[in-house]
Amino acid sequence: MSHIRGRFHKKTGELVTEYTASIPFDWRLYRHDIAGSIAHAKMLAKQGIISEKEAEVITEGLASIAEEIGQGKFQFKPELEDIHMNIEAQLIEKVGEVGGKLHTARSRNDQVALDLRLFTKEAISNTLVKLREFQQALISLAEANKGVVLPGYTHLQPAQPVLLAHHLLAYFEMLQRDIDRFSDCLKRTDVMPLGSGAIAGVAYNIDRDFLAHELGFSQLSQNSIDAVSDRDFVVEYEAAASLTMMHLSRLAEEIILWSSAEFNFAELDEAYTTGSSIMPQKKNPDVAELVRGKTGRVYGKLIALLVTMKALPLSYNRDMQEDKEGLFDTIDTLLSTLGVFAGMVKTLRVKAENTEQAVKRGYILATDLADYLVNKGEPFRTAHDIVARLVSYAMDKGKSFSELSLTEYKGFSPLFGEDVYSITVESSIAARDVIGGTAPRQVEQALATAKKIIGDFGRGN
Ligand code: ARG
Repeated sequence: MSHIRGRFHKKTGELVTEYTASIPFDWRLYRHDIAGSIAHAKMLAKQGIISEKEAEVITEGLASIAEEIGQGKFQFKPELEDIHMNIEAQLIEKVGEVGGKLHTARSRNDQVALDLRLFTKEAISNTLVKLREFQQALISLAEANKGVVLPGYTHLQPAQPVLLAHHLLAYFEMLQRDIDRFSDCLKRTDVMPLGSGAIAGVAYNIDRDFLAHELGFSQLSQNSIDAVSDRDFVVEYEAAASLTMMHLSRLAEEIILWSSAEFNFAELDEAYTTGSSIMPQKKNPDVAELVRGKTGRVYGKLIALLVTMKALPLSYNRDMQEDKEGLFDTIDTLLSTLGVFAGMVKTLRVKAENTEQAVKRGYILATDLADYLVNKGEPFRTAHDIVARLVSYAMDKGKSFSELSLTEYKGFSPLFGEDVYSITVESSIAARDVIGGTAPRQVEQALATAKKIIGDFGRGN
């Protein structure tokens, strides 16, 4: 920090410089920092705090610095600590003393809060686009496999037959909640902190509304102490990201299971698998495994920030510099995961012959048999009991339900009749004709609604 060491006699030690510098990672805030500074310079001129000419010189200088950084020509200096001071020092270098006027009525504390909010807002809109694209991938897979049935599981035991589209739309719902959460977190991120200064506000006649308008914020922070201390919006982004990753990890796990030799329900496109270096028969679901694996990493960043912020006295503390790497990593991980996973979902080949075969194995229609007896007047609990005994009998005989004779059925309940043989996977699925159920009519409806949601977002391809 050579240029602001006024009251110090010693130079910062090299190790200390290295330890405290954030420039190795916060350079990523450069566009937002410069946008914030340009708006600030314009506002200072509008308020007569600096001249129009000075604002122009500063703005031009900042624009050319943005270009230099963008082209990779900028020399970042760790002794200048962070992105804010690197840019300011370069500005002074470029335009001379007038550059020193930029930091009037501002502190790095409100500046970094502003930069991080601009950055997070941008990340939220990118995240929302990717979430929509992922929902779109789920819809395409569902539509490409209309009518495909598979066993629905509870406790990872075959429970009841469901349509694959219904299963996939369960993930659509999860992502819909994720979209709600990110949109909601945007409201609290969309707050303009400039004017808070270091902690107490600034002693100049500034125009905060103008700044908010220039920078596209819909609200102003209402307490300067809170404004420089608050990182809730980062925690919220990371929490929403953690939930999204949790959802993605569940689908990843299912795809891993489905593509195993034991399930054999689906085959991954080769582009999303790798071979083994020693076992030639292998086709490993690495992408899905990494989606599952990276979920832990995203949770980790959330916990790290919560622990960093815990019990910090007001207001700004240097601890808070630790917010950035976790946020950046979370954004990068989430966006790349959503992107690659969407491609994997879209290209998944479902082996309908095998899922159908699996539905026929076991006694997956047992609930339907109980429902059958209920429809003939048996109380559900008794019906459940009868069918449980029937299943145990059929298992002993090594027969499926359809292989049992009517006499065998009647041995368990006189209510059984010839029509028991019309209970099929299709009839089972069609019977679940309630809102949110797996009946084809309902799933068709749900698909239409999902497509409408996607279409309304303006990305209906
Ligand atoms: N690099 C700092 C951070 O990331 C910027 C704010 C520094 N403020 C200060 N008073 N040292 O938090």
